[in-house]
Amino acid sequence: MIETNIKKGQEYELTIESLAYGGKGIAKVNGFVVFVKNAIPGQKVRALVYRKRKGYAEARPLEVLEESPYKIEAPCEHFAYCGGCTFQQLDYEEQLNQKRRQVEELFIRQAGIEDFKVDEVIGADEIYHYRNKMEFSFSNRRWILPGEAEDANKDFALGLHVPRRYDKILDINQCFIQPELGNDILNAVKSKACELKLKPYDVKTHNGFLRHLVLRFGHNTGDVMVNLVTSYENPELIQPLADTIHEQFPQVTTIINNINTKKADIAYGEYETLLFGEPTITEKIGNLTFEISANSFFQTNTLQGEKLYKTALNGASLSGEEIVYDLYCGTGSISLFLAQEAKEVHGFEVIVSSIEDATRNAISNGITNVYFHKANLDFFFRKAAIKKDIPSPDVIVIDPPRAGMHKDMVTALPKFGAKRLVYISCNPTTQSRDIAQLLEDGYKLKKLTMVDMFPHTPHIETVGVLEKS
Ligand SMILES: C[S@@+](CC[C@H](N)C(=O)[O-])C[C@H]1O[C@@H](n2cnc3c(N)ncnc32)[C@H](O)[C@@H]1O
Repeated sequence: MIETNIKKGQEYELTIESLAYGGKGIAKVNGFVVFVKNAIPGQKVRALVYRKRKGYAEARPLEVLEESPYKIEAPCEHFAYCGGCTFQQLDYEEQLNQKRRQVEELFIRQAGIEDFKVDEVIGADEIYHYRNKMEFSFSNRRWILPGEAEDANKDFALGLHVPRRYDKILDINQCFIQPELGNDILNAVKSKACELKLKPYDVKTHNGFLRHLVLRFGHNTGDVMVNLVTSYENPELIQPLADTIHEQFPQVTTIINNINTKKADIAYGEYETLLFGEPTITEKIGNLTFEISANSFFQTNTLQGEKLYKTALNGASLSGEEIVYDLYCGTGSISLFLAQEAKEVHGFEVIVSSIEDATRNAISNGITNVYFHKANLDFFFRKAAIKKDIPSPDVIVIDPPRAGMHKDMVTALPKFGAKRLVYISCNPTTQSRDIAQLLEDGYKLKKLTMVDMFPHTPHIETVGVLEKS
């Protein structure tokens, strides 16, 4: 390990070489790594070291001494505080270069995986207003911005969490990654909720009514869902808010109320009541139409989602004869694309409403060779990898949540004997960990493709194709 005389509380002139996974700038002092907040590659900054650990230090910039050639003006008024789109001031091409470099770093240097092909990053054509789902939180603890008056109203906010503050919400007027209509609905809900004197939920005392506003958009259909998450059911309180949304935004096709009585701060109810319109919205990807309910997973960038599915389908390289498993299948979107090129597809998923959506989607799209199984994959295959009533797979597609696969699922996977695995992930850290294990168990990583589903954020989606060696 390189040691240094870098000290906490001292200032240094640092040149930012690259971005670490997560978004901090990386500078080096005699080979010693310093992570610099809110700094981009190519900048020279005067920075204050506020933390020193074994092997690295952390600093915050005090002054930009030389500007980066990749710097652009961040369009969002909330950029300095929100923490959602931390790459907004970095030219988009350079965002893609940095994401590719980070993924290579994780796979090659950290996980020790060698000898595989890395494709060009598949970038987005629309880099703003691309999200088809946004979750905002109501709060009685508004984040007060520097320079605001002492007596500013702190008691109401509708917006996004301030980084690392579970209890504070930054009030948002305009978010550049959701459709413009979303911003209009956000502001209308905010002013009507204040006018009706509806109490925002307090995450510390667990009092209050309004918890979250979740917006979903059918990018290719024009459908719009407004999901109001509350801490208890009270039609008299919620209906006037729903009526206003309906009157002001006739394009909204669903208004739904999810009731989350639990303490966990999630925009997900134990049950829901329909306040207006249809219980689900529809979205189209390629030749398929999907019904999506409030709590079901669906790729949050429709346009890039289509590119992601094409990448996965190419990776699966199906001839029409294969049995395919789609693990963590959500509403079955990948399953239905796979089914059009396979003999039979089996999707596995833990959320019941997603399985129900998936089954409905298969029927409405006229796809009959796909079967969905409710399964918690943390232990479903623990005892026996092969289930008697499900044929064994030739190809397995895996698309787990950010935490990656449960270790028992990784252990069970090689026992299926599938010739090919296609591992899709929104978290290359856990994906590289799981893939490193699969390489020990007889697979070889052939190819890695990155699809940028989330421009301006540190996130990247990766698709790894593994074959039995
Ligand atoms: C990244 S999403 C993938 C969805 C789907 N492949 C798609 O593209 O729409 C991950 C899915 O895994 C599901 N999931 C999370 N933990 C699970 C578990 N332990 N067992 C089964 N499914 C799980 C989630 O509900 C979610 O639908």
